[in-house]
Amino acid sequence: MKQIIHRIAAITATLCIALFFISTIIVELFGSNESIATIKSIIVWPGLFILVPAIAITGASGFALAKSRSGKLIKSKMLRMPFIAMNGLLILLPSAIFLDHLAASGNFDTRFYLVQGIELIAGLINLVLMGMNMRDGLKLSGKIHARL
Ligand code: HEM
Repeated sequence: MKQIIHRIAAITATLCIALFFISTIIVELFGSNESIATIKSIIVWPGLFILVPAIAITGASGFALAKSRSGKLIKSKMLRMPFIAMNGLLILLPSAIFLDHLAASGNFDTRFYLVQGIELIAGLINLVLMGMNMRDGLKLSGKIHARL
């Protein structure tokens, strides 16, 4: 049960970040200001309301699964988790809210693109860390083979 919860939450969280990242790049390269504002608003609601609990559940279920195990893979996953959570709470969440606010009032100024750049970098870092946690998780559950 814990494993299924962990799997669903981890996939949901990773997909959210990937979707926010890709839709932001596409809409900012090819979309109108209105469509940028729409995407920024969807990222906040319902986006963040799915992402934040998904990250919290992934972390909590991950630590619960790790209780009865030890080893290098678990240790690396545990070390990455605070970065993922803090990056999400301290950078991605406030950036998403701020960008939505600016886009809704048509303010596509230097501040918008500066914060947008920071958000994209933080999103990419989280995607890489979450991808590494996925890879190590699949090794732990025996779905892919660990190199010995
Ligand atoms: C965003 C962070 C994380 C992601 C994306 C992630 C992803 C995954 C995935 C995809 C699996 C394989 C699930 C399956 O085969 O059904 C897994 C398994 C696992 N994860 Fe995570 N995980 C994360 C955080 C954590 C944390 C913080 C821990 C705690 C150390 C953890 C511990 C485990 C364990 C022990 C397993 C093996 C479960 C088993 O088969 O017994 N994970 N993880």
